[in-house]
Amino acid sequence: MVAIGSDHAGFEFKQRICSLLDELGEKYIDFGTLTKDSCDYPDFAKLVAESIVKKESDKGILICGTGIGMSIGANRYNGIRAAVCVNEAMAKVSRTHNDSNILAIGERITPWIEVEKMVKVWLKTDFEDGRHSKRVNKLDR
Ligand code: RB5
Repeated sequence: MVAIGSDHAGFEFKQRICSLLDELGEKYIDFGTLTKDSCDYPDFAKLVAESIVKKESDKGILICGTGIGMSIGANRYNGIRAAVCVNEAMAKVSRTHNDSNILAIGERITPWIEVEKMVKVWLKTDFEDGRHSKRVNKLDR
């Protein structure tokens, strides 16, 4: 299950990513926002992160203007590894090396053509484990 959320600045890409998840047959919960009215990114970072922490979802996608506010908000939770990515290579390595469980995207930063590739590669790439587990296990405080 994928938890997805955005603020107003990420709303357009959230809608497109929901359609992409439908095409890919991925189940998701849309935590909003549901309109382009101005709203606060921490509220949606919280909903998506908490959905993962309580194991209702196993991964999440958050979109705001830059991806930065969403990642800062989500990374306050132990067990959350939100990665702000701007291209396909970062999205892939955030899975193989960092076991990212949230992909954070900036609608004002990354063009849709790249975002589509990022989402696809991020969903299908496994964590490499091995030497990376020791490091990932040191992240929570
Ligand atoms: C909203 O204007 C913008 O600040 C927000 O979407 C995000 O980029 C924050 O990190």
